[in-house]
Amino acid sequence: MKLFLDTANVDDIKEIAAWGILSGVTTNPSLIAREGRDFREVIGEICDIVDGPISAEVISTEREGMLREAREKAEWHENVVIKIPMGKEGLAAVSILEKEGLRCNVTLVFSAAQGYTAALAGASFVSPFVGRLDDIGIPGMEVVADLAEIYDLHGFGTRIIAASIRHTQHVEQAALAGAHIATVPTAVVRKLVEHPLTDIGLEKFLSDWNK
Ligand code: E4P
Repeated sequence: MKLFLDTANVDDIKEIAAWGILSGVTTNPSLIAREGRDFREVIGEICDIVDGPISAEVISTEREGMLREAREKAEWHENVVIKIPMGKEGLAAVSILEKEGLRCNVTLVFSAAQGYTAALAGASFVSPFVGRLDDIGIPGMEVVADLAEIYDLHGFGTRIIAASIRHTQHVEQAALAGAHIATVPTAVVRKLVEHPLTDIGLEKFLSDWNK
């Protein structure tokens, strides 16, 4: 399972990319708005840091607007993946864009049924939102596991991005459930590498050494 960073913060992306564990980045309108910067400029900087799929989301809600925005964003950089919201208009746009050779990430997916239709439309990526399902008492990771099984059984090439990740267990569970990618907020990525016993162990090694 590859690791993507779920942020539009360029400093965070630089830091985590330097650890050598990052394969891509996902953004969304909320994350871009949080940075208070120009969308294109931010995506351009991210593309300069990470050589992998970089998701940039459209804000149009109807097909023509999505197509227009997608084609424009695809010009920004060859690694830009167009993030399109799940729905009838979104699927229609995805099926056209993928035929044009533009890679799409269908976002806001909350059921295996939705993820199945995204694969039928030819989406390169699908993003089931695990944490937001957990928030309403529905086990989000089951959608990831079901999609992994469906795609495998029926030979779909769509890559599953486990999204809306809230803690390190989500990352472990996503890997076990068969997600191809987990897109993870910076705070959770930091926690992936930490363990109190590592700190205690290192302190002991160094104090023994110094004795
Ligand atoms: C995915 O691509 C989304 O940007 C993200 O994972 C949404 O997560 P949230 O539920 O924490 O907003």
